[in-house]
Amino acid sequence: MFILTLRSCLTQGRVQALRFIQSGGGRQNSLQWKHTLQKRWKSTTVSEMASPSGAAARSVPNATANKAMGRWMLLCSGMVGCAVLLGGITRLTESGLSMVSWHIIKEMKPPSNQEEWEAEFNKYQQFPEFKILNRDMTLNEFKFIWFMEYSHRMWGRAVGLAYILPAIYFWRKGWFNRTMKGRVLFLCSFVCFQGLLGWYMVKSGLEEKPDSYDVPRVSQYRLAAHLGSALVLYCASFWTGLSLLFPRQKLLETRQLLKLRTFTHGAAGLVFLTALSGAFVAGLDAGLVYNSFPKMANRWIPDDLLAFSPAIRNVFENPTTVQFNHRILGISSVAAITGLYFYSRRIPLPRRARLAVNSLLAVAYLQVTLGISTLLLFVPTSLAATHQSGSLALLTAAIWLMNELRRMPK
Ligand code: HEM
Repeated sequence: MFILTLRSCLTQGRVQALRFIQSGGGRQNSLQWKHTLQKRWKSTTVSEMASPSGAAARSVPNATANKAMGRWMLLCSGMVGCAVLLGGITRLTESGLSMVSWHIIKEMKPPSNQEEWEAEFNKYQQFPEFKILNRDMTLNEFKFIWFMEYSHRMWGRAVGLAYILPAIYFWRKGWFNRTMKGRVLFLCSFVCFQGLLGWYMVKSGLEEKPDSYDVPRVSQYRLAAHLGSALVLYCASFWTGLSLLFPRQKLLETRQLLKLRTFTHGAAGLVFLTALSGAFVAGLDAGLVYNSFPKMANRWIPDDLLAFSPAIRNVFENPTTVQFNHRILGISSVAAITGLYFYSRRIPLPRRARLAVNSLLAVAYLQVTLGISTLLLFVPTSLAATHQSGSLALLTAAIWLMNELRRMPK
C-alpha cells in the first residue's frame, strides 16, 4: 500500500512539474506553483493521500464519508462502554480470576466436554482464589464464573476488531485526512494495549502471596490503569464521532464563553479523576469499610485516615482514605457541575449546548445518589454496576458539552 501511495504521489508531482515546464517557468509561474501547492496542503478533503482507489475516494463527498466514519466511532465508543460494564459485573461477581491463562486465539474456543471442563477447573484449583476463597466450589459454579470472564474477554476481542477492520477499510478507500490517520492509529494501538493491560491486571490476582490469607484480588493500581485507559479510549472515540457527525456551532467568542469552556474542561477532568479514584475503591473493596453517609462512623474525619506509613501510601492503599477521597472528589464534581450550570445560564447558548448542560447536571446528581446508595446498602452487585455505568454517562455528558463548545478554527 505504501508503494502504491508513493507511486501515486510521484505521478501527481510529475504532472504538476510538466505543466510548470510547459508554461515556461518564470517568477509568476513559480508563484502560481507555490499557490497550487499551498492550496493542496491546506485542503482537508477525505482523500488526502491518493490510493489505488483514489479516483473513487475523491468522488465520495466529504459529508458522506464523515457520516460513515462518525457512526463507526460512536459504535466503537458504545462497544467500549459495554466492555466497561461487563468488566465491572465480572469483578463484582468475583469471576475475574477464573481463566488462569491468556492466549489471543486458543482461548476463543471454550471447553466443549466434561473432560475439558474438568481440566480447566483443575487449572483454576492451583491458584490462590480457589485455595483461599472457593474451596467448596462445584464444577457448575465454576462454569458460571468462567463464562462471565470469557464473555468479557471475547467482547474485548470484538471491540478490537470493530476498531481495526473498518480502519483498514476506510484507510484503503483514502477517506482519512492527516488528523484522522493519527487518531485512528492511536485508537487502534490503544485498544490492543488495553487488552494487554487487562491480562497484566489479572496476573496480579493469580500470584501466590505466601504470608497472606487475605481474599485474593487484583492490584488496585492495575485495576485503575485498566479502567482509566478504557475511559480514555471511550472518551477519545466518542469525541471523534461527535466531531465528525456534528459541525461546530457558531458561538459568540465572549470572555464569559471562554470561562465556561475552561470551566467545562475542569469539570470533565474532575469527573475523570473521581472515576479513577472509584477504581481504587473497587480494587480495595473500600466500599465496605464505612457504610454511613455523610459521616464515616459518626465522624467527619475518620481516625484511621493516616494509619499507613509513609503518609502517601494512604492515598492509594488505605481503604479508609481511598473511600474518603472518593467521597470528597464525587461531592466536588457535583458541586463544580452545579456551579457550571448556574454560570451557563448567564450566557445565550444554542439549543444543543443547553441540552448538554442540563443533561450533565441531571446525570451528576443521579450518579452521586447512586454512589451514596451503593455505600449505604453494602455494595450490592446491581447497584454498584449501575454506579459504574453512571460514571460513563457522566463522562458522556461532559464530553458532549465540551464538543458543543468547540472553538471555530481561525
Ligand atoms: C461524580 C461522582 C462519582 C463518580 C464519577 C464515581 C465513579 C465511580 C467508579 C468509576 C467506581 C468504580 C466502579 C467499579 O470499578 O466497579 C466507583 C466505585 C464506588 N463509588 Fe463512586 N463515583 C462518584 C461518586 C460517589 C459518591 C458520592 C459515593 C458515596 C458517597 C460513591 C461510592 C462508591 C462506592 C461505594 C464504590 C465501590 C463500588 C464497588 O466496590 O464496586 N461514589 N465510583
